Formats: sequence, structure tokens, C-alpha cells
Amino acid sequence: MRFAVFASGNGSNLQAIIDSVKAAEIKAELVLVFSNNRKAYALKRAEEAGIKTLFVDPKHYATPQSYERAIVIHLKEAKIDFIVLAGYMKLLTPFFIREYPQKILNVHPSLLPSFKGIDGIKDAFTYGAKVTGVTIHFVDEKMDHGPMIMQEAIKVAEDETLESLAEKIHSVEHKIYPKAIALFAQGKLKVKGRKVTVE
Ligand code: GAR
Repeated sequence: MRFAVFASGNGSNLQAIIDSVKAAEIKAELVLVFSNNRKAYALKRAEEAGIKTLFVDPKHYATPQSYERAIVIHLKEAKIDFIVLAGYMKLLTPFFIREYPQKILNVHPSLLPSFKGIDGIKDAFTYGAKVTGVTIHFVDEKMDHGPMIMQEAIKVAEDETLESLAEKIHSVEHKIYPKAIALFAQGKLKVKGRKVTVE
């Protein structure tokens, strides 16, 4: 199996994935790191690991779909079997999702369906949640909605700060996302409706 990671920012999840591929915990080939942000540190991490990078400038495309058409051409050329979103902060359109049905994974920094959107950690913290966490899920046509593969809860301490909570969330992401990708790459995830089981 050949896969691509999509990332818009720091790429700490990408780094955890690169490390897991190197350690042969994920038995699939990470062949491409794509970003919609030229300055994403994720692109540097990929270069340092010797992985091909791709930046496509959204400014040059009139619609989200024409942008995605351009990306899909690259993905087909690279014979990508599945896609891992790791802090990719642009909503994919139904066009793209239909190209890779149940072949796109995402990490979200809350216990879905609570605190969807781009600021899951801060939203849970300011709401006063006592428990939050991390969700790994398949991507479907609704935002932060597809069938859930893994979740891990994290307690919010009395003296928690947004920074300390973010640290806890990221360390759980780095632990469970590679595990979910490894299971997917081995064909062990079965999806029935909203339920995902490990077989
Ligand atoms: C991660 O916390 C990820 O869960 C979140 O962006 C961060 C990216 O960090 N994704 C979302 O909020 C998606 N809705 P990273 O660039 O260091 O991996």
C-alpha cells in the first residue's frame, strides 16, 4: 500500500507517522507529503526524511473542486492507495472524497461528535469540559463526521492550562494515529455503517 499525508502546519503528527513507517510499525510506503501551505513545517520534515513533497497553491484555482482535481492528478500519478490527513486545515469536497471512498483517515483533537471544527482543543477547554480527547476517523462528506476508528479520553485537570492540555492531546495523537494507520494498512479495519471493527 502506498499513501500520502496531507498537512497544513507544524506536522508533529506527520513526524510520528514518518517514525512509525521507519520502524516498520506501519507496513505501507509513505510516498508523498502534500500541503496547501507553502510555509508548512510539515514540508521540511518530509524533505528531511527524504519523502517527496508537493505544494499546490490554492490561489491559482477558482473553485475548491478545480484545486482538488489538480491534486488528484498528482495522487493518481503517484499511485496513492490511501490518504492520511494530519492537520490538513482545508475541508475536502465531495468530489475528492468520492475519489477515495473510505480511504481517507483523519485525526481530530476532541472526542467527536463534540467540538468539531478547526479549534477542537481550545473549544473543549473554554467550554469547561472535564474530559476531552482524540478521535481517529474515516472522512466522509460531512465535517468531522465519518465512522470512528479509535478514541482516547483525556481528563482535564483542575489546574490545566490550554498549553498543558494541548501537550496531552498531541502526545495521545502521536501514540494512537500511527496505530490506526497500521491497522488500516494491514486491511484489518472493517466498516459497517458507522461502526468500525478490528478483524
Ligand atoms: C492536530 O492536533 C490535529 O488533531 C488537528 O490539527 C493539529 C495538527 O498538528 N486537526 C484538526 O483540528 C482537524 N480538524 P500537527 O501539524 O502538529 O500534526
